[in-house]
Amino acid sequence: MSTLHIAVLPGDGIGPEVVREARKALDAIASASSFSFEYEEGLIGAAAIDATGSPFPAPTLELLERSDAILFGAIGDPKYDNDPSAKVRPEQGLLAMRKALGLFVNVRPVASYDLLNDASPLRKEIIEGVDIVVYRELTGGIYFGSPRGRSEDGQMAFDTCTYSREEIERVAVRAFEAARRRRNKLTLVDKANVLATSRLWREVVTEMASSQFPDVDYDTMFVDNAAMKLIQNPGFFDVILTGNLFGDILSDAASVLAGSLGMLPSASLGKKTSLFEPVHGSYPQATGKGIANPMATILSAAMLLEDGLGLAKEAAVIRKAILSAMENGYVTEDIQGGNKSTTEVGDYVASFIEKNYAVPAS
Ligand code: IPM
Ligand code: MG
Repeated sequence: MSTLHIAVLPGDGIGPEVVREARKALDAIASASSFSFEYEEGLIGAAAIDATGSPFPAPTLELLERSDAILFGAIGDPKYDNDPSAKVRPEQGLLAMRKALGLFVNVRPVASYDLLNDASPLRKEIIEGVDIVVYRELTGGIYFGSPRGRSEDGQMAFDTCTYSREEIERVAVRAFEAARRRRNKLTLVDKANVLATSRLWREVVTEMASSQFPDVDYDTMFVDNAAMKLIQNPGFFDVILTGNLFGDILSDAASVLAGSLGMLPSASLGKKTSLFEPVHGSYPQATGKGIANPMATILSAAMLLEDGLGLAKEAAVIRKAILSAMENGYVTEDIQGGNKSTTEVGDYVASFIEKNYAVPAS
């Protein structure tokens, strides 16, 4: 029997509460499988600053590098948001981790759930059947380019956006492959009418579309237009491929389509270990109240199984459990009239898995 090592980073705010429920789902899978999970926790974000002074301490990196996959909660604490002079910030830990692990692609699927269609601020006809995945480049662009900073007199500030052909190619390959597994459509989103980096993206990705992926229906769109289209006609999109900053913005915009941020999982894939986390943040107002929706993290655990460990069948069982929880009213308050607690939802999901999942015959 093999043991899979999962690094667990509960992080800040509601992170620890939702991660706990995702672990229950993973344990339920393991209890009916020929493998087991071994968890080891690490510090990151505000919790790490409080304990060590650093938002991403060295022992955490060491832990992540030797794990098979990483389950992450959330990062961020209002005591830093409200202090512009703070020298260290929890978010620095997140960016440092992405860079150190080479997590170059961020995958954010957004699907609408029939049960949630009325919860979206958009009309039902617009969001029905929406099924989009954003492939966001995660370790380049304006988030990391240098030089950055202030002029000597402090009166001017600057950031630098750089992209190399190689950085574009490696994320584009992943996005094209995803399109092939889905509805075979990829939209490159950029600002090639203004930015040199975007013109390189267009050149590289368009070349790849015709030489390596001629079977994929490929088009390009300026980011301003894409933002509008996501709201007006989201059904247009299948796979969206884009750079770091545009992907950050568009994935938040797209998240509205699902009806609740509490439903959206994500994966950050690297060359070796990959990381899985809910799209929502640390939600400090809800911390400790038992009202946080654990579904995004549980669905992230499903992505961990499928994209991190190659266990697609097991991932499908978790997704079925989530649908069953929704159909049976095991939902938290962010989901139409929900009155169940974080733990109740997690327990329901775990017991559904235990009842419905048997060891696959080998
Ligand atoms: C995200 C977040 C981060 C980002 C922040 C917290 C640095 O918004 O993961 O989308 O901008 O990448
Ligand atoms: Mg963001």
